[in-house]
Amino acid sequence: MSRLAMLGGPRAVPAGADHDAATAWPVVTPADERAVLRVLRGGRLTASAAGETEVAALEREWAGHVGVAHCVAVGSGTAAIQVALAAAGVGAGDEVVVPALTMNATAHAVRQCGAEPVFADIDADTFTLAPDRVAEALTDRTAALLPVHLHGLPADVDELGGVADARGLVVVEDAAQAHGAAYRGRRAGALGLAGCFSLHPSKNLPTCGEGGLITTDSDELRRAALALRNFGEHEPVRTRTYIAHGPGGNARLGPVQAAFARSQLERFPSCAEDRHKAVTDLLTRLAALPGLRVPHVPADRSHAWHIIRLRLVPEELGLGGVEPAAVRAALHRVLRAEGVPVSRYQVAPLPAHPAFRPPGAGLDDVADRFPVSCRTVDGTLCLQRRQLNPAAGPVLAAYADGFEKVWEHLDVVRSVAAANPGQGWRESFAGGGR
Ligand SMILES: Cc1ncc(COP(=O)(O)O)c(C=O)c1O
Repeated sequence: MSRLAMLGGPRAVPAGADHDAATAWPVVTPADERAVLRVLRGGRLTASAAGETEVAALEREWAGHVGVAHCVAVGSGTAAIQVALAAAGVGAGDEVVVPALTMNATAHAVRQCGAEPVFADIDADTFTLAPDRVAEALTDRTAALLPVHLHGLPADVDELGGVADARGLVVVEDAAQAHGAAYRGRRAGALGLAGCFSLHPSKNLPTCGEGGLITTDSDELRRAALALRNFGEHEPVRTRTYIAHGPGGNARLGPVQAAFARSQLERFPSCAEDRHKAVTDLLTRLAALPGLRVPHVPADRSHAWHIIRLRLVPEELGLGGVEPAAVRAALHRVLRAEGVPVSRYQVAPLPAHPAFRPPGAGLDDVADRFPVSCRTVDGTLCLQRRQLNPAAGPVLAAYADGFEKVWEHLDVVRSVAAANPGQGWRESFAGGGR
């Protein structure tokens, strides 16, 4: 049994150039470079340039991939949500139900279209909106549900759709992390009135810069989204009129970004397959470790593995009674010393953020109303980004070696956890939290 790296032993995961190359993301190939050069040399540098074809081609190709009639490309994933909600008629005075655990962009996008995010807790196993919690969050102002396919696992959209249909609400998917994932035989992005994707370079389908995609089967929503992304103008029949027929702004995607994303899309299916295999091999090994729960993927869904969230069970680690955040912090420290880059994704539930906490509401309110999100933030560790590269298999196998090594030294983890209080989610607001 080799000594822990934290105590001077060798790292389980060796550092080096090969390791860096196998975990870099996005992977930029000569074909991606040629795609960008094609646009630069063609001189049509904006989506509104006469004769520009890259954006429309990406829209066609992504709609085909998702299995919907239309796609509208926009400037970011946040813009995709904002434009999709507004195109669905959501606006001032409306409420939109959002999961308490997600990236802040989800709730910001609701505000940007004039509505108010109302939070609902997540399901403890899938980390996505819990349908019974959604039912409790509805008011007579609720206009839409905005489930997030967090980390790449689709939310239970049929259950949520049942809640929505009974109240005449629309469902817009935040699929920013879930390119290619599926639910009951349908792709993420084809599960609600509209699906919203991010093309941020950290995402499974990256671009060079920023970008987003809206998918829908609705002709009406497509038309409204096209106007909203381009100053309220109608789609030009021959030449652009510049007449504003309604609200809008500039949320267009650039052709350079479209061309790069199209080039990435050619490799997307094979990348997703290689990633799935490497992640499954990793999780098979981790699932054998006591006190560590790998992501639960219900039989009716597939996971895009954008982020891997691992739950810790302190009692099974011999740490019953120790603060979950202390257990997490101890494992974080010991694993990272071995070269396993575990991290935290979201340090606090969204309703605790000052931007979204109602005046007068304290952190105790958040703890009472969103216990699963709070527990999830404190009691889990994530692996991010490294697993996206299709060549990451050997590095992920080394991560598994690192976990197994640390699990042979749980006595050390126990003493680190017992000696050091962890940073629970409330600590993120130290000084400013109530
Ligand atoms: C769940 C979720 N929604 C929305 C967004 C926003 O996407 P973008 O950064 O492209 O605006 C992100 C980005 O990280 C996200 O993770």
